[in-house]
Amino acid sequence: MNSEKILIIGACGQIGVELTLALRQLYSNNQVIASDLRPEVHPLLEGTGSYYTIDATDIKAVAELVQKEKVTQIYLLAALLSATGEKMPMKAWDINMNSLLQILELGVEQKLSKIYWPSSIAVFGTTTPKNDTPQKTIVEPSTVYGISKYAGELWAQYYHRRWGLDVRSLRYPGLISWKSTPGGGTTDYAVEIYYEALKNKQYTSFLSENTYLPMMYMDDAIRGTIELMEAPGEQIKSRMAYNLSAMSFSPKEIAAVIQKHIPNFKIDYAPDFRQAIADSWPSSIDDTGARMDWHWQHRFDLDKMTEDMLRNLSK
Ligand code: NAD
Ligand code: SER
Repeated sequence: MNSEKILIIGACGQIGVELTLALRQLYSNNQVIASDLRPEVHPLLEGTGSYYTIDATDIKAVAELVQKEKVTQIYLLAALLSATGEKMPMKAWDINMNSLLQILELGVEQKLSKIYWPSSIAVFGTTTPKNDTPQKTIVEPSTVYGISKYAGELWAQYYHRRWGLDVRSLRYPGLISWKSTPGGGTTDYAVEIYYEALKNKQYTSFLSENTYLPMMYMDDAIRGTIELMEAPGEQIKSRMAYNLSAMSFSPKEIAAVIQKHIPNFKIDYAPDFRQAIADSWPSSIDDTGARMDWHWQHRFDLDKMTEDMLRNLSK
């Protein structure tokens, strides 16, 4: 652990901020370098470690940084998410796919010890079984984001088989957090709703009331990511991404739980283009593989998450 040097690319995003801080706790500030296309954001700004502004698709710049900082592991989080991706399909493909392929190549050249690259429930499509979606099933994604994630999983598996590169991946559900805001996904409503409940006591959901999606609190997602990355290699039986699950709820259900804390909170519904994306995804996920192989267990359900979100956002 002491000789590792970790580079996080996309560190200013919803996951990146919390993952950077968690890895700096686990390793040390000096061992975890944050980077992103945009300038450093709060709370990374509080001098917890080094920061570089870098484009994930500029492989020359990434390679120079890897050599200069003697990087041994990369967490590649830079991406365009599902909703933004549908507005700019070619740009989404370029960022999501080319950054991964170039970093996989760099991983072989530089003999990196590990690479982390997240996938998503967006790999699944309308032909996939909708409830308790298994790890291995019909996979026909309908968004450019989902296509890039599924192609990326296959490339990760290929680099592991062909070159022995230790690439690990999770199919995150929609992630809910208070330390950093989400960046253009279809599940973002489940974060916005807490901000609006506290501020305006009213929220208009862009998904319809009975749209069930797999969701997870960020604390669980960060812990799951680190547990996957720290697990002994022989426990990682899937070199495609692991299904990862915690809870499933609809806009109507999350609103009802918020109303237990804020009784005059009101929700209405105005579904937009994101409804079709959500309708193509599973309602719930079977993550038996992660639970068996490296002992994944979630800790937050909808009630516990809501208490924590409202308490922290009220501050
Ligand atoms: P985000 O949009 O919040 O953050 C992505 C970050 O990448 C941003 O800070 C952005 O500035 C940066 N970025 C974009 N293009 C870049 C480039 N060319 N070079 C360097 N940085 C660039 O996304 P997130 O929610 O933190 O997601 C991180 C990863 O996790 C993505 O791969 C995403 O697909 C995956 N994921 C997220 C969720 C979720 O609910 N948040 C769910 C499933 C999978
Ligand atoms: N939360 C992500 C999105 O909605 C799922 O990958 O795009």
